[in-house]
Amino acid sequence: MKTLRLERLGWIFMRVSGVLLIGLIFTHLFVNLMQEGGVKAIDFAFVAGKLADPFWQWFDVTLLWLALIHGTNGMRVVVDDYVTRPRLKKVLQTSLFVSAAVLIVLGTLVVFTLDPCPVGAPASILPSFCSAG
Ligand code: HEM
Repeated sequence: MKTLRLERLGWIFMRVSGVLLIGLIFTHLFVNLMQEGGVKAIDFAFVAGKLADPFWQWFDVTLLWLALIHGTNGMRVVVDDYVTRPRLKKVLQTSLFVSAAVLIVLGTLVVFTLDPCPVGAPASILPSFCSAG
């Protein structure tokens, strides 16, 4: 009974997160690629400048969490449907869970702790606000 309720929540989560991910991913691609210079303009200053802004921090973390949970839960269902050996199923589903958890923790740490103005780095590679003041 409890498993059924969880599966139902999972079914709803996959539909809702799928719709949200479309908006988040296309915004992400548009902002990163449609700047002057296109993909070649992505450098440390660009990324550090974005991640110094709380809006982009929360945007990225939402994208990170939704994409990883959506992708991992999707793979969990595929494994559940196609892998018949119980031990192999357990190993695969545990590996999926562990890798998603590690990526979520590391990605979240990067987004919230990246130092945009590391001491000793040449000013030419840093965002312009590092030299102001
Ligand atoms: C041509 C395609 C892509 C380019 C050029 C690109 C570029 C970038 C860049 C420059 C960053 C770091 C700064 C920022 O937040 O914008 C980033 C971060 C990120 N991208 Fe993309 N991206 C692409 C496609 C995607 C797709 C398809 C997804 C998800 C399905 C995605 C998910 C993410 C996530 C979750 C982060 C934050 C990672 C973290 O630090 O934890 N990206 N991307």
